[in-house]
Amino acid sequence: MSIKLDRQFLKGFLEESEVQAIAADLEKAQHDLTNKTGTGSDFLGWTDLPSSIDDGLIDELTELGKDVRLNSDCIVSIGIGGSYLGIKATLEYLRDSSHTPVYYAGHNMSVDYTYELLENLKDKNFTVIVISKSGTTTEPALAFRLIKEVMKEKYSEEEMQKRIICVTDGAKGALRKTADAKGYRTYVIPDDVGGRFSVLTPVGLVPLACAGVDIKALVDGARAGEKEYSSTDLNSNTCLQYAASRYLLYKKGKVIEMQASFYDNMQYVSEWWKQLFGESEGKDGKGIFPASTVLSTDLHSMGQLMQDGMRNIFETFIEVETSNHELIIPEEADNLDDFNCVAGRDLDWVNTQAHKATAEAHFEGGVPNMTITLGKADAFHLGQLYYFFERAVGITGYLLGVNPFNQPGVEAYKKKMFALLGK
Ligand code: PA5
Repeated sequence: MSIKLDRQFLKGFLEESEVQAIAADLEKAQHDLTNKTGTGSDFLGWTDLPSSIDDGLIDELTELGKDVRLNSDCIVSIGIGGSYLGIKATLEYLRDSSHTPVYYAGHNMSVDYTYELLENLKDKNFTVIVISKSGTTTEPALAFRLIKEVMKEKYSEEEMQKRIICVTDGAKGALRKTADAKGYRTYVIPDDVGGRFSVLTPVGLVPLACAGVDIKALVDGARAGEKEYSSTDLNSNTCLQYAASRYLLYKKGKVIEMQASFYDNMQYVSEWWKQLFGESEGKDGKGIFPASTVLSTDLHSMGQLMQDGMRNIFETFIEVETSNHELIIPEEADNLDDFNCVAGRDLDWVNTQAHKATAEAHFEGGVPNMTITLGKADAFHLGQLYYFFERAVGITGYLLGVNPFNQPGVEAYKKKMFALLGK
């Protein structure tokens, strides 16, 4: 099922004629992405990545996953940024109790977090997947050092070789050097796919396959997305419509995009989206500020600001058409809470009414909003959504006139930190 986009609550803020007026720019952006001729063309490997993934690799990783699960109670996934968020987002979104637990390390340097993790690992059998494209990032490198110390207490060098998998560059970086020197198994991240676009490379596929995710369905969803969202037909391509709308809203002073979902398992998909959009667009003094809420929880904290605060926000709701479970609200004879009006209804129906009400109320309060609807909370539809957002940010980045595929600003803190660390 395709992703649907509802733009009824843009009316009065943005007219369809304004979107049509930039049709030629949208078409050029699509051509530049597809033909890899635009700015940052060295990092456009993600555009046709889904269709170029070899089914043999998917089978190989699925088998790897089965082997790993035979000898591991859990998996430790070490990585940060693009080498972390897609994995966490996918597992949180799918929330499947049959998956092998995945613990994360190297996405922060909080000593208490890492200490607890190391303590927890001492009495577990585990496999470690270290993910770093550059192979030189401080946070995962330090986490790897610390976890290896726990492993040395438990496992022989030969056993460690079996239990450590490195996902990194094919030739360069310290992690590549370590893997080659120690004989660890490696999977290569393609040169032309940047970190935040890498969830469908071995960065995401290796740990997800090890956890037991149906990576074939995830990739198939992205393949469907690639086919649909690479089109230049503005009237049928919802990705183009979304990209154009957010760009035009930004031009009218709506400089913050609030992604909002009534499904709490979307929380880390929103975190992944924030990195993708923030790191791609936020440069040269430009960029839409990506923020997120999980509703209805945050309606009771951020609701006031959304309804009534500074009017520099637009909102993008994510709706899921079919939930995985059903929960019918019971009738109570005394009806003391006065909610027999929804007795016999599925809780998801009430949640959907909350979404409809919020979209309308925020619109009336001066927040233009759109709704993206996914067919189902499964791997296929998530893969489709990943591609939808990757393509959308490529298009808006080009419309904004920035290079959406570099991240020079990320280096500034590192330089200062290395100076302090004496590196
Ligand atoms: O998008 C990016 O490039 C970054 O967020 C990186 O993914 C992050 O800094 C981790 O880099 P690396 O995989 O090289 O360790």
